[in-house]
Amino acid sequence: HPLRATRYVRSVHELKNLPPDVGREVAIAGRSNAGKSSAINAITDQNRLARTSKTPGRTQQLNYFEVAPEKFLVDLPGYGYAKVPPALRAHWEGLIDTFFRTREALKGLVVVMDIRHPLRDFDLQMLGYGRAGGLHCHCLLTKADKLPRGQQAKALLETRRALGDDATVQLFSAEDRTGVEEARAVLERWLAL
Ligand code: GTP
Ligand code: MG
Repeated sequence: HPLRATRYVRSVHELKNLPPDVGREVAIAGRSNAGKSSAINAITDQNRLARTSKTPGRTQQLNYFEVAPEKFLVDLPGYGYAKVPPALRAHWEGLIDTFFRTREALKGLVVVMDIRHPLRDFDLQMLGYGRAGGLHCHCLLTKADKLPRGQQAKALLETRRALGDDATVQLFSAEDRTGVEEARAVLERWLAL
């Protein structure tokens, strides 16, 4: 599959340093520890890809991964457990909002959420900015392996009901690889791979 060729390119700290606004991009967001890096690694079939870009404590950066020429995954770090100072948080939110609204190449947003506590403030904020920017939105309910089947189905149904037409939702697990193909299909479609 084409996503296997994905490689880390660079991290961008300010919108003025973004690569040229051409081609196609998909943003991937998630709260700290939600399982975002693991999801990116499972989807791209690479063991350490998402880790290479990780700078601890560095919330305000956009990590660019190139899948193919002019096709990128953009990893947007979420808030950590440590309290983020309000001014920093506001700056980050403004940056994301602007990025989502103005970036021509950006076609969709994937929000990675722990299936045991989906739709937290951060997730709803990201989805709000995504919709405001006219992006397709897709949610991964990850760590599905942590719940029995019945509860997985229940969480899926409830999250779908809560989001309605605002986003599509699927089960995911980097551990047992539930939903990896489904997620890949979404990315391949949005990136026109
Ligand atoms: P930060 O980058 O630190 O904010 O976290 P992240 O969202 O990238 O999460 P990461 O992928 O590092 O995973 C966090 C923890 O959850 C790790 O201990 C993973 O092994 C675990 N984890 C991630 N995905 C899964 C999953 O699908 N199932 C299970 N059981 N554990 C998972
Ligand atoms: Mg990570």
